[in-house]
Formats: sequence, structure tokens, C-alpha cells
Amino acid sequence: MSSVAQAATSLSRLSARARRTSEPQISWLLKKPLENPNMISLAAGLVDQQSLPAQAIQKLVAMLFSNEDAAKRALQYGTTEGEATLRHTLAHRLEDQGLPAPIDPENIVITNGSQQLLFLATDVLVDPGDIVLVEDPTYFVYMGTLDSVGARTIGIPTDDEGIIPDALEETLRSLEASGELPRVKILYVMTYFQNPKGSSHTWKRREQIYEIVERFSSDEHYIYILEDAAYYELKFEGEDVPFLKTLDSANERVLLAMTFSKAFAPGFRLGYGYLPSELTPHILNQKGNHDFGSGNLAQNLICHALQTGIFDEHAAMLRQRYRAKRDLMLDVIRRHFPPEVKYLEPKGGLYVWVTMPEGISTSPGSRFFEEALAREVLYVPGCYCYAQEEGRRKPDNQMRLCYAYIQEDPMVEGLKRLADACAAALT
Ligand SMILES: Cc1ncc(COP(=O)(O)O)c(C=O)c1O
Repeated sequence: MSSVAQAATSLSRLSARARRTSEPQISWLLKKPLENPNMISLAAGLVDQQSLPAQAIQKLVAMLFSNEDAAKRALQYGTTEGEATLRHTLAHRLEDQGLPAPIDPENIVITNGSQQLLFLATDVLVDPGDIVLVEDPTYFVYMGTLDSVGARTIGIPTDDEGIIPDALEETLRSLEASGELPRVKILYVMTYFQNPKGSSHTWKRREQIYEIVERFSSDEHYIYILEDAAYYELKFEGEDVPFLKTLDSANERVLLAMTFSKAFAPGFRLGYGYLPSELTPHILNQKGNHDFGSGNLAQNLICHALQTGIFDEHAAMLRQRYRAKRDLMLDVIRRHFPPEVKYLEPKGGLYVWVTMPEGISTSPGSRFFEEALAREVLYVPGCYCYAQEEGRRKPDNQMRLCYAYIQEDPMVEGLKRLADACAAALT
């Protein structure tokens, strides 16, 4: 039997879900620097390596292990929902951050990164053929999750202030006209310094989005909002904008996904959700099937980090560090990129979103992409970040650059190489 036939046979042994789940398109790109150490990756979305809080965590471990009983409790299995003190601490933090009090810690669930919450929420709410609305562009990893559950993903156009309300309304209206509105289950929205654009939703947009979703939703076909606030703590400047979740005073529509990865350390693999009370038991049932609880030791350490102020101190330091790296990236782009190339200036987060002139594709296989590869520099092609829908053309002249993981000297060198590739593609 040929290897192709063999692969087809073994595929037929898999569940429909496994067959729908493929390796993310981006994986090959992220592996490239491992094959070629001269390759400079402005694509990698890892966090800054130098500033990871190794010493602070050494202190936290010593603190926890100075009490043998507490240490042993942390080394035991925990509960599916997560460590009680941590959930209480987080409930108070969210109240301090402006969410309507009192927050019932019962609706806070600790997860393995916020990624697990995105997965669980989708698993609990979405059947094959159901519709999930996302921003255009959106977090490409979440689109993989949506594909694996067989969802239909529809992108809603955005501008620098977030989802365009008229576009959201028009999409919902046309789904209503075609009788498909009951299939809309979730609007997924990144409210702060989104991945890949780096832009945030203004307060006005949050209100408009909430109002539109509420209007098109009914008890028979309820539309949830999944608010992903992964970059909430990484604000460098600008006004504080309340969570979209603030609008959900009855705690019934918005699932808020938060993480300790971006402002502390992704190695803990911890995040949490503040969930509508009706959904919490269902999310917990699925989480129980996965793991009966996130790592108890990691949760105990994070809890100490929050209570001692170590987390906030670290986040404050990181904001300075990332702001400096953002400034450097923007400065090099300004000085070296051709003037036809446009870019957004993020006020937080980890990404700069660059738009080439119309007609200059950044997609794999394009002239620009090949020019960049030849100069040994990588970026995330914008096309990976758009829900691809039949009959709707999406931009293919954009790219995501990340200033988080790369150190300063290679960043400058990588951007100069990219500027060269731009110039070559424009001739
Ligand atoms: C927008 C967004 N949401 C969620 C995640 C998941 O992160 P984690 O699982 O580490 O919390 C990421 C990671 O890059 C992200 O960019």
C-alpha cells in the first residue's frame, strides 16, 4: 500500500473531531529558526526571556516550602475549579479592577492557560455547523480550536477602535434573514491590545457591541460574548478602559478569559475565567474530563505572588521593558521602512501590525515572503489571522511583528532585513 493510501486508511480510523484538527498552519514557520540559527524571527510570540521572574519564583518556592504542611497540600491533587484562596483573591482583584461587586468566587475557574478556557467554552457551547463571530483579524490559534469543533467562523471587520458596530449589525441581520441566526453561539473579542493588531476596543465600541449582541440574542438562541483580555496588564500608556464584562451586571452573557502568561510567566500554564453562573458547572464538568484541576503547586505559587505584590511588581517592570522594545521597533520601522508601508502604534501588548501597499502580498509563496526568507527573517503572514470565508476576499498584504521574545540587537537587524525585503518587493 502506498504511504498516501496508508495515511488515508489510518485517517478513517479517527474521530470526526480528530480529522478536523490539523497542525496549525503557522507551525512550520515557527520551527524555521530551529533549522537555521541565522534566521531572525519576528514571528515568535514567546515572552521576553531575560525578564522572566526566576529569582522571584525561587523566593516564592522557599516561602511555600518553609511550611511543610502547606507544601504537602500544594503537592496533593487540587480541585477541578482551582485553589479556593486563589479564586477568592482573584475575585477581589477583579472587583478592584472595576467589575461589579460582589463577585462570587464560585464563578472563577482556574485553567491551564487561558487557552484551555477558550477551548472549554467552545466545547461547551458550539456544535458542528454552529457559528462563531471573530474579529477580522483574530488570534489564529483560536481559529484552530473553532475548526476542530466544526464551527463556522465568520470574521467581522475592525478598525483601530475595535469591531465596527455597523459591520457586526449587518452580519447578524443577514444571518437572521437567511434563518441562520440561531446558529450564532459566540462573539469572540479581544478587548485589550489584541493579537495580531495590537489595538484595543474603545469603551464606546464595547458598549455598542454589547448592545447589538443583546438585541440579536434571545432565550431560544442565546449569543455569548467571549472576552479575551490576555494582554490586559500590559498597558504602556493611555486611559484605563473597563472590561467589556463590566456591562454584564447580571453575570449571564460574558465569559472573561484572563491569563498569568503575559504579565508573569507562561511556564506556569495558568489562566482563569470569570464565567456566567449558568455556564460554570458545565465548564467544570468538561474540565474534570480533561484534568480534574490545574497544577496545584503552580496555583499556590501564583497565589503567593499575588498576595505578596510580587506579581504586580513584575508586571510593572514588564510594562517598562516592553514599552522600550516597542519604542525601538517603531523607531527602526519609521527610519528604515519605505513610506508606503503603514503600521499601527500599539499602546500595549506585544505586537506591531504592518500593512504593505495594496497588491503586495505577504502570504507564504509571495514575492515579499520569499525576499524575506532569502534575507533570513520571519514574520507572521496576515492571511493566517483572517477567518477564510467563501466568497469574501480578505486582505493578504499585512504582517504581525512581535517585539516580545527577540532581543534588541537581532530585532534591529531583523527589521533592517525586512525593510530591504519591502524595498525589493516594491521595485
Ligand atoms: C489573545 C490570546 N489569547 C489567549 C492566549 C493563550 O495564552 P495562555 O494559554 O498562555 O494564557 C494567547 C497566547 O498567545 C493570546 O495571544
